[in-house]
Amino acid sequence: MRVFSGIQPTGMPHLGNYFGAFQNWIKLQNEGHDCIFSIVNQHAITLPRDKEKLVKDTIEMGAVFLAVGLDPNKSILFVQSDVPAHAELTWILSCLTPMGQMERMIQFKEKSEKDPNAVNLGLFNYPILMAADIMLYKTDLVPVGIDQAQHLELTRILVQKFNNKYGEFFVEPKTLHTETTKVVGLDGKSKMSKSYDNFIGLTETSESIWKKLSVAVTDPARVKKSDPGNPDICNIYSLHKLFSEKSDVDWVKEGCSGAKIGCMECKKKLFENIEKFLSPIREKYFELMKKPDNVKEIFHEGGKKANAIANQTLSEVYDLIGFKY
Ligand code: ADP
Ligand code: TRP
Repeated sequence: MRVFSGIQPTGMPHLGNYFGAFQNWIKLQNEGHDCIFSIVNQHAITLPRDKEKLVKDTIEMGAVFLAVGLDPNKSILFVQSDVPAHAELTWILSCLTPMGQMERMIQFKEKSEKDPNAVNLGLFNYPILMAADIMLYKTDLVPVGIDQAQHLELTRILVQKFNNKYGEFFVEPKTLHTETTKVVGLDGKSKMSKSYDNFIGLTETSESIWKKLSVAVTDPARVKKSDPGNPDICNIYSLHKLFSEKSDVDWVKEGCSGAKIGCMECKKKLFENIEKFLSPIREKYFELMKKPDNVKEIFHEGGKKANAIANQTLSEVYDLIGFKY
């Protein structure tokens, strides 16, 4: 199966990104599928970005890809702007996209309502660029978080429109979500996100993680240790389910509902387990960041491989629509 996915270089990725996206990327790669993963920097400029910060975020995201276990010998890893065919196919697809379809996009509505002054055509067109990313590689499967489901639906519509007009050519991609479709943030309310500052970063220091965890929201009804808590409404418990062995998860469930353990004990255990998971990733990441040129080189090489596939598809598309004369 051909697998494609992407993530924007917009700062330090977090546990929500890992359990909503990276986890499946790594699994699919290690199952031997034909995987292509991109740092989608062209998507990232739909909101204003400082030049130096964009370069830095791109390299850091590259190091995170490698640190979490994506392997350039197994998958193609590349930066979107190294492959001009993405922008070229976007133009062709936009000529097939009904305006009404775009106006229904939830993410556009949310982002534009949040900051009406930042609305630009790129933000509106963004799902068409995403469809182009996917279609260029004739992708079968797209592992993404649930917030991307509507964009995948648009991609399938564009595949159908193209195929109806020009003959069967593109593949209708399926969406793959992880088991944990939504990792809740440390505020216990919204999804974990860079935008809400409620996250634990994949490369964050131990000190900083503990600082955030120690004040993270728990069951608000549990004021004293002697009050029995309700683990099912406590976000610390849901994080335990992601990081802890069954014995620790059971210990929390019983200890909290039976008022035998306090919230701090529970958080300390979670912290230990998060540390076990994150410290090898963090170590590898800082090792890689000592030689950023090596990271760049891996992505430049990946770009060459991605260009070969994408240019082939684009050339066939040009032929189909009448651009070759
Ligand atoms: P952010 O909201 O922090 O800006 P992105 O929009 O860059 O994150 O998300 C990148 C990928 O990670 C997407 O596939 C998205 O669905 C997934 N993802 C992001 N946050 C979460 C979360 N809290 N839970 C599950 N998946 C998430
Ligand atoms: N829109 C996705 C996000 O914000 C990133 C993305 C861009 C993507 N192009 C893609 C994901 C293609 C999967 C496939 O997270």
